[in-house]
Amino acid sequence: MRDVAVVGIGMGDFGELWEKSLRTIWVESALAALTDAGVGEVDLITVGCMAPGLFVGQEHLASLLADELGMAGVPAARVESACASGGLALRTGFAEVASGLSDTVLVTGVEKMTDVDGADATYALGTAADQEWEGFHGITFPGLYAMLARIHMQRFGTTSEQLAAVAVKNHANGLLNPHAQYHLKVSIEDVLASTMVADPLRLLDCSPVTDGAAAMVLTTVERAKELAGDRPVVKITGSGLATDAITLANREDLSELGAVRKAAERAYEMAGRQPNDLHVVEVHDCFTIAEVMTTEAIGLFERGEGGPAAENGLTSLQGKIPVNTSGGLKSKGHPVGATGVAQAIEIVSQLRGEAGQRQVEGAEVGLAQNMGGSGGSSIVHIMEVA
Ligand code: COA
Repeated sequence: MRDVAVVGIGMGDFGELWEKSLRTIWVESALAALTDAGVGEVDLITVGCMAPGLFVGQEHLASLLADELGMAGVPAARVESACASGGLALRTGFAEVASGLSDTVLVTGVEKMTDVDGADATYALGTAADQEWEGFHGITFPGLYAMLARIHMQRFGTTSEQLAAVAVKNHANGLLNPHAQYHLKVSIEDVLASTMVADPLRLLDCSPVTDGAAAMVLTTVERAKELAGDRPVVKITGSGLATDAITLANREDLSELGAVRKAAERAYEMAGRQPNDLHVVEVHDCFTIAEVMTTEAIGLFERGEGGPAAENGLTSLQGKIPVNTSGGLKSKGHPVGATGVAQAIEIVSQLRGEAGQRQVEGAEVGLAQNMGGSGGSSIVHIMEVA
């Protein structure tokens, strides 16, 4: 395998972008990444997008977007793994460069979710669950994660206050991220007083519905060093992908996210790293309980310790291991197909020392964890300063 580097990153604001179409936000982020890389041509474009047919009535997206970028003719492919589609786009690009099939890949993610109303958005998201055994009976994603939260609470004593601490931290970090959907300072009391969505998860325990796009350029480490000049080169040293039963009823143990644990183990093994080596982490906090469970599954904390860790500030910007410095899905927003790419962009920014007010001093090794649905798929990448 060849060594793979990230040589360009680009993303615009996340939020309700009613004045822009899917293709516009995608092209803006793609051009920003190509400009950042100093690259004009690529061998492949990957597009992570979960449900463009349901959200904007458009399929056959990769060809459409390549043309929109003035790159009709370039190989382009959309990949899908629900909310982990962006992470899968990154892994696909990584595999292409590592294998030698492509030298330079434009990795992108996009979702335009606010052009439909809340009920249609909830339906579209719900198609990532098992429709026959879950969705058609009325459960939605907040409901599925509420069940995971209840089980975690019963088994480990996790509290609503601990979940609220995740939201408070991520909104605090989001205040420092100009691209975040919400620039909102919230307290534990605010979270606990917010509208109940699916008991025990309240409005401020949930990630929002978001429009957004993100892009990065991958190439070989050798070429990246030529292109980067004085800037640090960030290398992808580990990539892990795993699946689990989509249907919660078919899982052996609902108090852990098995796909996340396996994807992380595979990424750590490839990188020759362990959780203690990490300086900064982005995890898939689609709901506050998801951050608690993912920080356990990637080995930052023992099982049952994710809640207390958040409550005790271990994952804050100044904490032992800063988690979701970008504001996470909770505050930055969760345009599902774009999320995995945006998470990796935050890690690259941190490792380059370009994260501004959210910079983790001395960050040299980072991890990004992306997850599909209620944990039916997960993708983990480890990145390091080359
Ligand atoms: N966090 C903070 N504020 C939020 C929010 C969130 N997640 N979602 C909505 N808001 C705010 C809105 O900005 C709005 O504020 P305003 O009145 O000041 O303008 C207000 O709450 C109402 O917004 P609205 O869009 O009407 O909310 P809603 O009730 O339709 O949707 C949720 C709220 C939580 C149901 C929706 O955001 C949701 O479904 N989130 C989960 C998305 C999901 O499942 N993703 C996939 C995960 S696997």
